[in-house]
Amino acid sequence: MSISNSKDLLIKATVGKYAVGAFNVTSIIQMVAIIEAAEEVNSPVIIQTSVSPAKQLTPELFGVAFRFLAQNSSVPVALQLDHCSDIDFCKRCVDAGYTSIMIDASKETLKNNIQMTKTVVDYTRTKGNASIEGELGTVGGVEDQIRVVESDVELCDPLMAVKFVNETSLDNLAPAIGTAHGIYKTRNPKIDILRLKNISESVNGLSIVAPLVVHGGTGLSELVVKELIAVGGSKFNVSTELKYAWIDAANEYIKTYGSKYNPVKMNQLQMDAAKKVVFYWIKLLGSAKKG
Ligand code: 13P
Repeated sequence: MSISNSKDLLIKATVGKYAVGAFNVTSIIQMVAIIEAAEEVNSPVIIQTSVSPAKQLTPELFGVAFRFLAQNSSVPVALQLDHCSDIDFCKRCVDAGYTSIMIDASKETLKNNIQMTKTVVDYTRTKGNASIEGELGTVGGVEDQIRVVESDVELCDPLMAVKFVNETSLDNLAPAIGTAHGIYKTRNPKIDILRLKNISESVNGLSIVAPLVVHGGTGLSELVVKELIAVGGSKFNVSTELKYAWIDAANEYIKTYGSKYNPVKMNQLQMDAAKKVVFYWIKLLGSAKKG
C-alpha cells in the first residue's frame, strides 16, 4: 500500500535535501504513465489535477483510480488537487480520496486567505490525514482557471508567511517567489532565491512546520532548480511541459501513423513522452531511489 499525502513526502524531501515532482494530469492514462515512470526509478511522486480535469472526469473517478494505482505501486504516491479557490470543491475532493488539496485564496486579502485556508484545513482534519497547501503572494501566469497578470504579481513576505502558517495550521506553503505558470517570457526569469531562503528560515528554522512548494516548474533552469532545493524547496509543480509533451506526441502519431487508427499505439507514444518528462524532473530533483 503506497498511498501517501504530500506532507509526508515533503518532510522527508526537506530533510534529505531533495524535492518531489508534482505532475499535473488531465486523465487516468497520464496518471498511469507518471506512476510507471516513478516506479522505474524508485521515486516518490505527487499526481495533481487542476480543477477543470477534476470536474470533467469527477474527483470520485480520480480518487478511485488513484487508490487502485497507488495501492499497487511500489513507490509512495499522493494525489493532490491543484489551485482550487472553491471551498466546497476542495471538500468534495477530500471526500473523494484526494490525499492533498491546494486551497488557493491568494488573490484574496490576507485575512480572507487565512480564513478560507483554515476552513479547508479544519474540514480535512475531521476526515483523515490529507494535507493542505496554501499560497501566499501571487504566482504569475495562467494555471487552469487562475490567471495572474504580471502587474498583479506580489511576492511573499517571510514574516507574513509565519503568520499565515501559524494562523491556518496548513501543511505545505507555496510562497510566491517570482516563478510563473506557463512558458517564461524571458530566458532568465528573475527568481527570488534569497526570498525562499528567508521564508524557509522563518517558517522552518527550528523544525519543519510547513515544507515549501515551488510553482511554475516548466522552463526553470537546472541551476535555479538546484539552488531552490538547497534553500528548502521540496515540491516542484510541473504542468505545461507535460501538456506540450502529451499533445506533441499525439500530433506526431497523427503525422506518422494517422491512417492506421491505432489508439493503443497512440496512447503508448503519449505515455512514453510523458515518462520522458518525469524522468528528467526526477533526476533533476534528486528523488530517484527515495521511494
Ligand atoms: P507550469 O505549468 O509552469 O509547469 O506550472 C505548474 C504549476 O505550478 C501548477 O500548479
